[in-house]
Amino acid sequence: MITPSSTEPAAGTGYPVGAGLRIGTVELSSPVFIAPMVGITDRAFRDLARELGAGLTCTEMTAAAALVRAPEDALNRILDMGSDERPVAAQLVGCDPILMADAAQICVARGADIVDVNLGCPVPKVVRLGSGAALARDIDQTVAVLEAMVNSVSVPVTAKMRLGWDQQSINAPELCRALEQVGVAAVTVHGRTRAQRYTGCADWDEIARVREAVDHIPVFGSGDVRDPAEVEARIRQGVVDGVVVARGMLGDWNFLEQTVRQLRRGDPGPEPSFQERLGLARRHWDAVVDQHGERLGVRLSRKFVVWAIKGCSGAARLRARVADLNTRAELEELFAEISSAGEGPGGWHRPAFTSGEG
Ligand SMILES: Cc1cc2nc3c(=O)[nH]c(=O)nc-3n(C[C@H](O)[C@H](O)[C@H](O)COP(=O)(O)O)c2cc1C
Repeated sequence: MITPSSTEPAAGTGYPVGAGLRIGTVELSSPVFIAPMVGITDRAFRDLARELGAGLTCTEMTAAAALVRAPEDALNRILDMGSDERPVAAQLVGCDPILMADAAQICVARGADIVDVNLGCPVPKVVRLGSGAALARDIDQTVAVLEAMVNSVSVPVTAKMRLGWDQQSINAPELCRALEQVGVAAVTVHGRTRAQRYTGCADWDEIARVREAVDHIPVFGSGDVRDPAEVEARIRQGVVDGVVVARGMLGDWNFLEQTVRQLRRGDPGPEPSFQERLGLARRHWDAVVDQHGERLGVRLSRKFVVWAIKGCSGAARLRARVADLNTRAELEELFAEISSAGEGPGGWHRPAFTSGEG
């Protein structure tokens, strides 16, 4: 947990780094933006991330076309934002200006402080429709979509994209400049091309070119954010105004805590023990069950339990039981066993994701 005293800047050292960052009218308590992640960033995940110091969280992407047709109960499920969840962004994907503007209004009516557009999704079923990374290839159409949204809502509209379609067609600097001119309030750039998907390394020199290209809007960098000291250096050096944490915190809540601490006082704090890591993982599982109810919540938390088990002794035996988890009591029992098994020889485990939607 971050103690209140850790939020105070150390005298004369320029901490906290990234203080006072704003997206339009929305002030962020830290420059750490938790990535939208399909199947992961539900309310339970976002609440814990905010408590651990995230300055902004975001729903997973939702197709505008589905949102405008969704009945009330489906809207409650898809846009699961709470009234005390501030600030929060809702992410949309789509390529039709009218649908996207209508969907943005729905997001705002349901509590979004910011509406973000996914211009980086690489998956075939999205790009085939001309959305995600495919939309970003066409700067004029992207501008038309974002301008319609900016004109339809009073909250800031932001965009998240890749560097370009492939190495030969990098257009993020040009695209971001054009978006700034129609009122887009911030941009996030994942430093890979669509062709790269999740291979290779994110190119932060290219991300820096985007920051040089825009006039005044904040630029967030995304891609391989894994090292708190590197995050601090990139913000201090003006490479970016803030960072997006994604795979780096999956299965590792402490990475978020450490990054926020680094930015608040220049030191990530001690390496967490196995029990501390497990404690945060457990809080997340409980929150998932609280949000979704016992039946669905326990089922949804199975994958998160598997992440924790991989790092503990006797992992194979414990993992075999995850598929049978159905009740809160069984989850509780398994947690107690993982806790007493202790850390395995390979240390705490982070899952490997080689695909995603942005
Ligand atoms: C499982 C998963 C789901 C994702 N879902 C989304 C999404 O809904 N919207 C989006 O803009 N990006 C999405 N992304 C991309 C991330 O937001 C981030 O830009 C990307 O993972 C690069 O950062 P990293 O290398 O630090 O993970 C997703 C990534 C993963 C791994």
